[in-house]
Amino acid sequence: MIRLPPLLLLTILVTLVLIPAPALAAILGIDFGQSNTKAALVSPGVPFEIVLTADSKRKDVSGIAFKGEERLYGSSAAGIAPRSPSTAFLHFKPLLGRSVSSSEAEMYLAQHPGMELIPSGNRSTVAFKTPDSSFPVEEVLAMSLSNIKNLAEEMLPKSSATSRIYDVAITVPPYFDSVQRKAIIDAAEIAGLRVTALVPDGVATAINYASSRSFGNEKQYHFVLDMGAGSTSATLISFQEIQDGGLRFGKTALSITVEGVGFDHTLGGNLLDQRIFEILLARFIEAHGDGILSSPRALVRLHKEAERVKTILSANSEVRVSVESLHGDIDFRTMVSRTEFEEAIHDILPRISKPFEDALKAAKLDILDVQSVILMGGTTRVPIFQQVLVNDVLKGDASKVSKNVNADEAAVMGATFRGVSVSKQFKTKEINVLDPTIWEYDVVISDSDGRPVGAQILFPEGSLVVGNRSLIELQISEDVEEATLEFREGGRPLFTYGLHGIQEAKKKLLLANNCSELIPVIDAELTVSRVFEVHGISLQCNVTRPAESDDSEGEDFRQKVFNFFKGEKSSSSEESTTASETTAAAEAPTDSESTTTTPTATSEKSKATSRPKPRLVKQPMKYKIFYSGPRNMGRATKASSQARLRAFDKLDSDRHARDAVRNDVESYSYRIREWIEYEHQRFLEHLSEEERQTFLNKAESALEWLYGEGESMILDKLKEKMKELKEFEMIVFQREKEKLASIEAELRASASAAAAEVSAEVDGVEELVIPDDEEEETAAETSTSATVATATTTLMPNTETVSFEQSSTVETEPEETADLQHDEL
Ligand SMILES: *[C@@H]1O[C@H](CO)[C@@H](O)[C@H](O)[C@H]1NC(C)=O
Ligand SMILES: *[C@@H]1O[C@H](CO)[C@@H](O)[C@H](O)[C@H]1NC(C)=O
Ligand SMILES: *[C@@H]1O[C@H](CO)[C@@H](O)[C@H](O)[C@H]1NC(C)=O
Ligand SMILES: *[C@@H]1O[C@H](CO)[C@@H](O)[C@H](O)[C@H]1NC(C)=O
Repeated sequence: MIRLPPLLLLTILVTLVLIPAPALAAILGIDFGQSNTKAALVSPGVPFEIVLTADSKRKDVSGIAFKGEERLYGSSAAGIAPRSPSTAFLHFKPLLGRSVSSSEAEMYLAQHPGMELIPSGNRSTVAFKTPDSSFPVEEVLAMSLSNIKNLAEEMLPKSSATSRIYDVAITVPPYFDSVQRKAIIDAAEIAGLRVTALVPDGVATAINYASSRSFGNEKQYHFVLDMGAGSTSATLISFQEIQDGGLRFGKTALSITVEGVGFDHTLGGNLLDQRIFEILLARFIEAHGDGILSSPRALVRLHKEAERVKTILSANSEVRVSVESLHGDIDFRTMVSRTEFEEAIHDILPRISKPFEDALKAAKLDILDVQSVILMGGTTRVPIFQQVLVNDVLKGDASKVSKNVNADEAAVMGATFRGVSVSKQFKTKEINVLDPTIWEYDVVISDSDGRPVGAQILFPEGSLVVGNRSLIELQISEDVEEATLEFREGGRPLFTYGLHGIQEAKKKLLLANNCSELIPVIDAELTVSRVFEVHGISLQCNVTRPAESDDSEGEDFRQKVFNFFKGEKSSSSEESTTASETTAAAEAPTDSESTTTTPTATSEKSKATSRPKPRLVKQPMKYKIFYSGPRNMGRATKASSQARLRAFDKLDSDRHARDAVRNDVESYSYRIREWIEYEHQRFLEHLSEEERQTFLNKAESALEWLYGEGESMILDKLKEKMKELKEFEMIVFQREKEKLASIEAELRASASAAAAEVSAEVDGVEELVIPDDEEEETAAETSTSATVATATTTLMPNTETVSFEQSSTVETEPEETADLQHDEL
């Protein structure tokens, strides 16, 4: 089966045209799933390439683990989970932005025996507790993202001006709220990445789907069913090509609109694993007693087995279970059939219809209007789910199940495309994504006694997520002194502002300005990633311009200059009318003929003064912020997490450097021992018996030292050791060179002797001798240097391993590039 076309088309859609800016673009797209994470990179020279893991896989397990101070990523982390359950942080996506007492945390603990969760600082979010430390969940995600970033940076062409990656687009479940979304953004920031967009899973898949198809100017409806490890969502998307009647006449732009979303944020593969786990556990307990319950290690292994059983049951009707020495010395063996599995999940099956119904209801459409259901996520492979989908949702029409999408990589490719088009650093096919909010954002206002006195919608449900920062008038009565404002998202409280000193702020504003009317405003933002934020609350008023501005022309010019400086200083707090005035004034000095510009400016001015222009003045209000639930990281917390990450990175790079030199010392010591013990001819002739013994001793003691010291070795000491050992080579090499030099001298002596003979034979033609002699010399030189070169290579068969500077990474890039070019053809 050929899976290339969608990827290829994406490559074509993004014509890699550089914008000649100093910072060349590299954009990373990450499909961050609960159980697996995938990443793709776009940069000049790297069109939509999957970021391979350290062991060259196209996806990795989501999570990291600590082995002492060393961090392991992805599948290596999952590998040590059974041995060290409390230091392997896997599949933690549902914990982001949630409290320790949440149902998500409870479920996580049930599925990850041996794990301990504690509140993170005073934020009531989750941190992982290890025997000697704790890690906020954002920090753990940051480490994971940072690892992906490093892997991706190695893919950037060495010749390119871009050597770092800053921009990232990350997938997000449609139901993630502001706190959860902000947690991902915070994690990216800790990792040194800037989130250009959080892309809803369904939208990411839809973008990828659209990249290999064309649509008419009639709306086409498709569902994206995303069933991952932890959750399920059904996104109803419409696709429509819209003819551009304007400047880009004849061209079309594709509109992708999210018409409705439904979800079940606990229905997923993990739930199925859990059911199989329960079957297995019950059988084990029945046969061998419940001692296993007190062994997290055994439970983690049983969980892993349950996962495997589920996967195999998707293609087989029964599975043989076999876990060696599961608990005590007991080998656990049993059989699980698909029928048993389907019975065990019987109560879960009807839940699949609900997200579809919700999405259709939101869009006011019927399932008959929908052309296909695009399947995403591993859990959609479970046969019984597909059956239920066809029978219950699609009314028996199996032809509407669309399977020709690469379910594994569609989301990461779509997210990357979205990142590329939002960042505008490459030219892309025009795809407009219209993603309305599924909730409304409002504020509930209470008086000083806590009695609600009003409520007000800030961004209604269905607001387009395009990045909207607005000053919104706050409706509170004139005379209040204190008020609390509870900001909510879909009816759930996010944070509360306790306003105080309102009258004092009013007085202050009135004293400084001639205000006609005071209006309290909220500076609220719904970001492109659908995070709701409040930047502040202030009082505003329009100040009427003093009357003296309509004066003589000279006076007016002075006023203009004055305004120019004033405007520049306070432009941030002024309305755009003043800003445009500033530009007009600023343009005048650049023009050489000021006489021509002045009249125009003046006429504008006089027009303006005939209608007094109000100027906007702001007075920030005092408030305290309260959080009733989980709260995102503050600036200080993020900074300390960043410092911690850097410290771990430093430990890593130190360890890598140490390991590299340690390996060098080890292999070089072995080699010396081998050369001497097996009486390697080349060295024997250069070293005395005594010297041989000395070096053999040195090598032996170096090996002893290596094994004795273990982890506590210092890099400097290792380097010193290496230098000591390399003396061996220096001596041998030096003597070899001396020997070659003497051979060369001998050769030259005999050559000139031969030349003398020749010249003696040729009578009286002395000029001929000189070029001959020169030729001879050059030849001798070349042959000598060739000999030296061969000597060097045989002497040091593995020069790379003995040099300190050489990085230990294996260069596989050229091969991959070749592959890609092949694919493109
Ligand atoms: C929470 O802790 C941080 C630092 O640990 C501190 O700066 C902040 O003031 C605390 N906040 C509250 C509400 O206690
Ligand atoms: C931004 O939000 C404000 C307040 O809800 C709304 O009036 C305005 O229409 C929105 N603008 C866009 C472009 O959505
Ligand atoms: C204040 O503004 C009003 C018009 O709104 C104007 O009549 C009055 O003269 C102004 N007062 C001062 C002190 O500038
Ligand atoms: C200020 O004046 C502008 C335009 O005249 C008006 O739209 C706005 O509502 C006024 N704002 C206040 C705070 O009075």
